Amino acid sequence: MVAALPKERQNAANVSRSELNCTGNPTVWQSGLQQRELCTIWVAFMKDLLDSMAAGDRDRSVALSLDPSRIPAHIAIIMDGNGRWANRRSLPRIAGHRAGVHAVRETVETCARLGLEALTLYAFSTENWKRPRVEVDMLWRLLRVFLKKELQTLQDNNIQLLAIGRLEFLPAKVQDELQSVIALTALNTGMRLALAINYSGRAELVDAVNAILGRARRENRLDSLRVDEDAVSRHLYTSALPDPDLLIRTSGEMRISNFLLWQIAYAELYVTDTLWPDFTRSELLRAVSEYGKRERRFGGLSATHREEAAFSESVPEEIAVPT
Ligand code: FPP
Repeated sequence: MVAALPKERQNAANVSRSELNCTGNPTVWQSGLQQRELCTIWVAFMKDLLDSMAAGDRDRSVALSLDPSRIPAHIAIIMDGNGRWANRRSLPRIAGHRAGVHAVRETVETCARLGLEALTLYAFSTENWKRPRVEVDMLWRLLRVFLKKELQTLQDNNIQLLAIGRLEFLPAKVQDELQSVIALTALNTGMRLALAINYSGRAELVDAVNAILGRARRENRLDSLRVDEDAVSRHLYTSALPDPDLLIRTSGEMRISNFLLWQIAYAELYVTDTLWPDFTRSELLRAVSEYGKRERRFGGLSATHREEAAFSESVPEEIAVPT
């Protein structure tokens, strides 16, 4: 189905109809929309993004090829490779983090313009405290500067800021700055940007279990307590967000690194060799385009195999499970 069109996006974008290849794709056509209506919705949905691109911009053709019914609602990103980026330039590691802020800004803006519901960025893990003190301190300073400088951009793009992780262990000044921007953007209705700070997926699960137990103890129902998946989800730091559809990791490492362990159960993975400071709007759009081509089965069967299964009446004897 085509996603509902937010009110603020109902003016047509600065794009000519001939630029569009609105010949339709099966998913969208199944929704019964006429080609003309489909084009109008498509253009309106992508308005913000297309308006930010000049006529000859190469990203424009990638954006124009995206299928609005196959844009992830939530992207989560492991921003890796800042240190290597700096190393390759014989610069101190912190120069890589500083360059990484530029990629953060571009990614946040592009995701908001794509109409994503949520973007989660892994900014600092509970393991990152093992780094040299000077690097950790500089990361906190960068985060504070980012929050101060980007507040206006968040407001202009109607973005709501959230933070997930054990925030109570952050330096007081960082906590204050975070809480201030969270409060100031709380009424924004567009994309939610969640910064994972002092975050660990295992710690999040431990916190969720303890929250469930604590509540049951307070309400005197420990003996009858039964926990199901829904209860766990509701007690995660991300309870207000949909699970990520797409997990991007930069710098080529094939690891999850303790990030959103519960939530990424069925996320599509996109790993790129690009180091985080070099991650651009073009690469983000490529990842979204690649996501659009994936078939998500959630443990079930593809459409073709479902049809085949429906037609096959009996299991051949040679593969039947012995009784
Ligand atoms: C991993 O690269 C990156 C981090 C631990 C920090 C990420 C921080 C930023 C992108 C900048 C600040 C963030 C915000 C949200 C303003 P690494 O240092 O592990 O790289 P390496 O694996 O090449 O050493």
